[in-house]
Amino acid sequence: MLAFPLKFPLFYFFIFSCFGYNSVFCDDNSNIPAIARYFSTKGRYEDVNSYLMEDILAANRSILQLPSAQCHEIHLTAIIRHGTRYPTVKNIKEMHQLYELVQRNASGEESWLREIQTQWRMWYTDDMDGRLVQKGVDDLRHLAVRLSKLFPSLISEQNLRGGLIKFITSSKHRCVNSTLAFKSGLTELWNIQVQFQQYHAKNDNRDNFDQEFDHAVNDSLMRFFDRCAKFLQDVDSNPLAVVEVDKFKSGPEMSGVLDKIADRLRVPHSDITYDLAQAAFYLCAYEFAIKTVNSPWCQLFDEHDAEAMEYVHDLKEYWKRGHGYDINSKSSCILFHDVFSRLDRSATENKSNQQVSETVTVQVGHADTLLPLLTLLGFFKDTDALTSTNYATQTQRSFRTSRMLPYAANLLLVLYDCGAGDLRLQPLLNEHSVTFPGLTGQQDSMPLYRDVKERYKDLLQGCDFETECKLFGPSAEG
Ligand SMILES: *[C@@H]1O[C@H](CO)[C@@H](O)[C@H](O)[C@H]1NC(C)=O
Ligand SMILES: *[C@@H]1O[C@H](CO)[C@@H](O)[C@H](O)[C@H]1NC(C)=O
Ligand SMILES: *[C@@H]1O[C@H](CO)[C@@H](O)[C@H](O)[C@H]1NC(C)=O
Ligand SMILES: *[C@@H]1O[C@H](CO)[C@@H](O)[C@H](O)[C@H]1NC(C)=O
Ligand SMILES: *[C@@H]1O[C@H](CO)[C@@H](O)[C@H](O)[C@H]1NC(C)=O
Repeated sequence: MLAFPLKFPLFYFFIFSCFGYNSVFCDDNSNIPAIARYFSTKGRYEDVNSYLMEDILAANRSILQLPSAQCHEIHLTAIIRHGTRYPTVKNIKEMHQLYELVQRNASGEESWLREIQTQWRMWYTDDMDGRLVQKGVDDLRHLAVRLSKLFPSLISEQNLRGGLIKFITSSKHRCVNSTLAFKSGLTELWNIQVQFQQYHAKNDNRDNFDQEFDHAVNDSLMRFFDRCAKFLQDVDSNPLAVVEVDKFKSGPEMSGVLDKIADRLRVPHSDITYDLAQAAFYLCAYEFAIKTVNSPWCQLFDEHDAEAMEYVHDLKEYWKRGHGYDINSKSSCILFHDVFSRLDRSATENKSNQQVSETVTVQVGHADTLLPLLTLLGFFKDTDALTSTNYATQTQRSFRTSRMLPYAANLLLVLYDCGAGDLRLQPLLNEHSVTFPGLTGQQDSMPLYRDVKERYKDLLQGCDFETECKLFGPSAEG
């Protein structure tokens, strides 16, 4: 765990910089694998937001582009994916299989191959199964500090102590621990400030945070995909739903990748299956995400290969969670309504001159939680569907999971009062201002709340989870 050097007050001045907080991630970036941009949902948040490599706590309110100085935020909903985690058992087993093949059957004199065979140790064990790693704890702690810098009036010590910041999480350990990490990022920060004040005898009577702040576990909300019968039947457990993925895996582009891997290892082409290639790709990705190591496994791919590997993952997400089938996004109707009811409540409270009762809602879930919601809101919809045969024409697609869904990916919805009852809603994705698709106007990045509600009118009036998810429900689809 990270201990703050409390005996050295000078360090307090550096809490907003790399040096005092966590210098590991401020190192130079010579360790970054050339293929790190293609890691899909196994990528680091810093590789999507490269300015964070210099300062993991960098946050700049100018990204908010407030249309007028009168705008003050009144509520924030943050839907956040858990941080960096270990591979799942299934992937770990495939990694072991690949490792054994390379140990026993690969030959060649390349230094990276010798390194795998003589120095690299297989250290992944089944019990790691998807658990949050220390880097994942840091992902959420750092995000919490950055968000408190972006929205100091909402994510404030006073609001946390007053119970105005609410935490809701998926029951999965990695999500619960991510939630705890987010909270600890805030309390560590504020405890330091308290101690700083006390050190300087500023008559500060505040206590350190030592109590636990409650969080609610709610799988209906954060793991809706597990409970949507129609989604489970039609998509999740239906092999035909991912036929495009299978076709691409056995198609010419992927055969080319597998052949190159077999050649690099000097093993028969028939030994390298897609699953083994994926295990190699994951080894490169996990060694990097967990340990910041550019491992010799990365040498099994050039960028061209990595792009094809990324496309497999994008295809899979597209057909299983994205625009591929209507039910994918409709399964998130419960979360959609939950979000808008919180926004509505805050808007109503502010308008009727009441104190907003929930200034911040932090909801921690999965890539599988975020993607259906983003899809429902209309984000990342390209003109053409992603298929096994249009890889070549999809190079400029917006649907790129590597950019959308790194660890700790997040969708922020910020409600502002801009004076005279002028409410606006700003969406931010991974701390970048984005615009609601299909909503054009003068203040694209911060539209009027009522225009947003008009844009999503049909969903707000319908999109009922029970109805959509019923087997043999109303919406037939291709
Ligand atoms: C914040 O961003 C603005 C505009 O992008 C820039 O001018 C300013 O220097 C930045 N501030 C900090 C502290 O980085
Ligand atoms: C690997 O090599 C061993 C001999 O060392 C051989 O028995 C085995 O068939 C080979 N496996 C593959 C998958 O080529
Ligand atoms: C969560 O944190 C607890 C306590 O720090 C730890 O014992 C547990 O292994 C962690 N679980 C996961 C899934 O990371
Ligand atoms: C989970 O969230 C849903 C939607 O907001 C709500 O209806 C339900 O009561 C919550 N469940 C629990 C156990 O809090
Ligand atoms: C409503 O929001 C505005 C803008 O932040 C603020 O000035 C006002 O105090 C809020 N009203 C209440 C009752 O909180």
